[in-house]
Formats: sequence, C-alpha cells, structure tokens
Amino acid sequence: MKKVTIIYGSTTGNTERVAELLKSNMDGADITLADASNAEKEMVQTADLILLGASTWGYGDIQDDFQAYYDSMSEDLLKGKDVAVFGCGNSDDFPDVYCEAVNLIKDKAAECGANIIGEGLKIDGEVDDNISAIESFAKSLL
Ligand SMILES: Cc1cc2nc3c(=O)[nH]c(=O)nc-3n(C[C@H](O)[C@H](O)[C@H](O)COP(=O)(O)O)c2cc1C
Repeated sequence: MKKVTIIYGSTTGNTERVAELLKSNMDGADITLADASNAEKEMVQTADLILLGASTWGYGDIQDDFQAYYDSMSEDLLKGKDVAVFGCGNSDDFPDVYCEAVNLIKDKAAECGANIIGEGLKIDGEVDDNISAIESFAKSLL
C-alpha cells in the first residue's frame, strides 16, 4: 500500500479542509495527515509520496505555521522523495502573488532534491467551488 504523508499550514481552515478532502479522495493509500506545527521527520522519511500544502498571506507570504516548516526543509529530508504541493489563495485580490506559497514550496522542495509531481493544486477562493479539481488532483497522484 502506498504511504502518503500530507503536511499543511492553514490559518482560517481552508487549506486544512483541502488536505482532508485530498485524504478522503485517495482510497487505497495509507495516509498520515499533520498540521505543519506537529509534523515530524519520520512522517516524511517513511512516506512514498509527500503532499505539502499552505495558503498565502500578507503579500505573497507562506502561511505562518508552514513558514517554520519551510525553513526546516532540507536535502537530508527530501532528496529523492516524491513531493506534490497544494494551497489556497485569492486571485481577485492578489493577482500578482496568487498562491505564491505553492510556488515557493515547490521551488524549495526541488532545491532540496525532491521529485516534484505535477504543477501543484491552487485553490482560488471558496473550497466548495473547487471540489472537482481537488478530487482530480488526488486521483492523479495514485
Ligand atoms: C490579509 C490577507 C492576506 C492575503 N494574502 C494573499 C496573497 O498574498 N496571495 C493569495 O493568493 N491569497 C492571499 N490571501 C487569501 C488567503 O490565502 C485565502 O483566504 C486562503 O483561502 C486562506 O487559507 P487558509 O484558511 O488555509 O489559511 C490573503 C488573505 C488575507 C485575509
């Protein structure tokens, strides 16, 4: 069974909800779900696939809890690992830095030697308006 670890940072609960929906749409995988502030190295070391998710705040900034996790991302942890990235943002209000956290996390994971799977999932606005994109993304990863 494929072991998947989902690590997310979420301030108002949107990215957390996306993380939970990804989990519930990956039938047949053995999934560990963790808030970035509770994530442990072992969750990544033992996973076949790692999903990293964070919303974007301020102006193009990574969500606070995930920022600390981002700072701890290293080659030692991620080299050779399969990683996919997701996150929530708002393109109407922040067109120039829409879902910038997804881009930043993807770049850092690549710098750490991870294999980046796909383009990543960017959720614009309400999670409820993006359910089918979340389902497709989850299924594309199995
Ligand atoms: C003060 C503030 C700053 C924000 N900055 C950005 C931004 O720079 N880029 C973006 O795409 N979305 C931005 N957003 C939108 C949030 O990312 C969006 O509401 C997201 O769904 C929050 O997800 P979370 O509940 O998982 O933290 C901002 C929202 C607020 C209220």
